[in-house]
Amino acid sequence: MNIILLGPPGAGKGTQAQRLMTTRGMVQLSTGDMLRAAVKAGSPVGLQAKAVMDAGQLVSDDIVSALIGERLDQGIGGGAIFDGYPRTAAQAEALDGLLEARDQTLDFVIELEVDEAALIERVEGRYTCARCGTGYHDRFKLPKVPGVCDVCGSTEFKRRPDDNAETVRTRMQEYRAKTAPILPIYQVRGLVHRVDGMADIEHVAQSIDAILAGRG
Ligand code: AP5
Ligand code: MG
Repeated sequence: MNIILLGPPGAGKGTQAQRLMTTRGMVQLSTGDMLRAAVKAGSPVGLQAKAVMDAGQLVSDDIVSALIGERLDQGIGGGAIFDGYPRTAAQAEALDGLLEARDQTLDFVIELEVDEAALIERVEGRYTCARCGTGYHDRFKLPKVPGVCDVCGSTEFKRRPDDNAETVRTRMQEYRAKTAPILPIYQVRGLVHRVDGMADIEHVAQSIDAILAGRG
């Protein structure tokens, strides 16, 4: 089963993708995470992407589609969760080609519907474990033991450089202008399901599970 999680910055794509990996053995394909890894490694892609990401704009379609193609070739176990990809009509078209070439289909597009005004707080409060990448939030998702990662026990955490209010606003504008308009491509195929992304994390998870089980 292959699914797309669609929604603006802070909608909960990464949070829900991580959970689906644990509960269903699916694989998260987050172009944001791939690009951040490239920036950290100082690779040619990373060098090209860094300033664009820091400004909250979109990295070129060719770069991100190539990253997805490479990742698909490494195998996707119980299915792919596309998180933050596709983000433009050109990427949606590229994804169709990438899946077709690998005899894969797209099964669900899940749109996380959110109130953008509330998302700034979500994004500004976000941090992740520096070792294993598990996501947390200052108010909404604290580690069980303060300062210690639930998953790997690390005490080192980090925040994203693009998680400030100004950059988030640009990221939201990019979402409205370039990403939201791709929804009709999937609507005409009957793939789109909407979930209330303002519910708490567990309720969002339950809604997604119901959709994947054919009950949503
Ligand atoms: P990317 O990393 O994809 O960032 P984004 O789309 O802006 O989304 P976020 O990761 O900020 O949000 P999320 O929906 O994953 O939320 P999360 O689950 O963490 O992209 C970054 C940049 O890379 C882009 O700006 C662009 O430059 C580039 N890029 C990436 N992909 C690209 C592409 N395809 N094409 C071109 N450029 C690309 O949740 C946020 C916080 O809220 C967390 O702390 C979480 O604990 C909390 N939370 C989650 N759900 C809930 C809930 N239901 N209630 C309360 N709190 C919640
Ligand atoms: Mg994310």
